[in-house]
Amino acid sequence: MPEVKSDQIIIGNDIFIPLITEEKLQERVKELALQISNDYKGKVPVFIGVLNGAFLFLSDLIKNINIDCEIDFFKLSSYGDEKISSGNVTLLKELNCEVDGRDLIIVEDIVDSGLSIKFIEELISKHTPLSMRVVSLLVKPNSIRYNVKINYIGFEIPSKFVIGYGLDYAQKYRNLRSIYVLK
Ligand code: IMP
Ligand code: MG
Repeated sequence: MPEVKSDQIIIGNDIFIPLITEEKLQERVKELALQISNDYKGKVPVFIGVLNGAFLFLSDLIKNINIDCEIDFFKLSSYGDEKISSGNVTLLKELNCEVDGRDLIIVEDIVDSGLSIKFIEELISKHTPLSMRVVSLLVKPNSIRYNVKINYIGFEIPSKFVIGYGLDYAQKYRNLRSIYVLK
């Protein structure tokens, strides 16, 4: 684990400071789950998590969903070990569920440029779901470069690198309970 000094996290030459506490995250996730449960009353949506980043958000989200639902996962590659996107996305794991005729809810940890969501929209467009919406815990509004619609947003954040609550830096720090931002 990294060195933690008075709530600062020091990783090599980088200092990360708290951005969103565990309490704030849990409170907002509950609000989103309630809103989605209301919007999908009488339906059985499939929550499609985008691995790896969205795994904690997806699990906390569906624990607070009060209608029947299913889950599945896509796995995409993107950042490698860097703090900026490589600019190309590849599919590492396809869906296993039946997509046609279903109400899909794509669950992302963070939308940065929007490339990953655009890529997923193109994959889904080969099928005929009843509907598709996107929920993202975090969005960096000033970084979006692709025309994508995010239906449910947890928090809008500045265009700075963040870690924790599923989000990694070179695959580490996903286990931090709060979200930290690069100072
Ligand atoms: P996009 O394709 O540029 O929108 O980037 C989306 C993906 O990049 C997310 O699903 C994350 O996995 C990763 N990502 C974007 N910003 C950050 C960040 O600040 N920290 C960690 N991962 C990030
Ligand atoms: Mg992701």
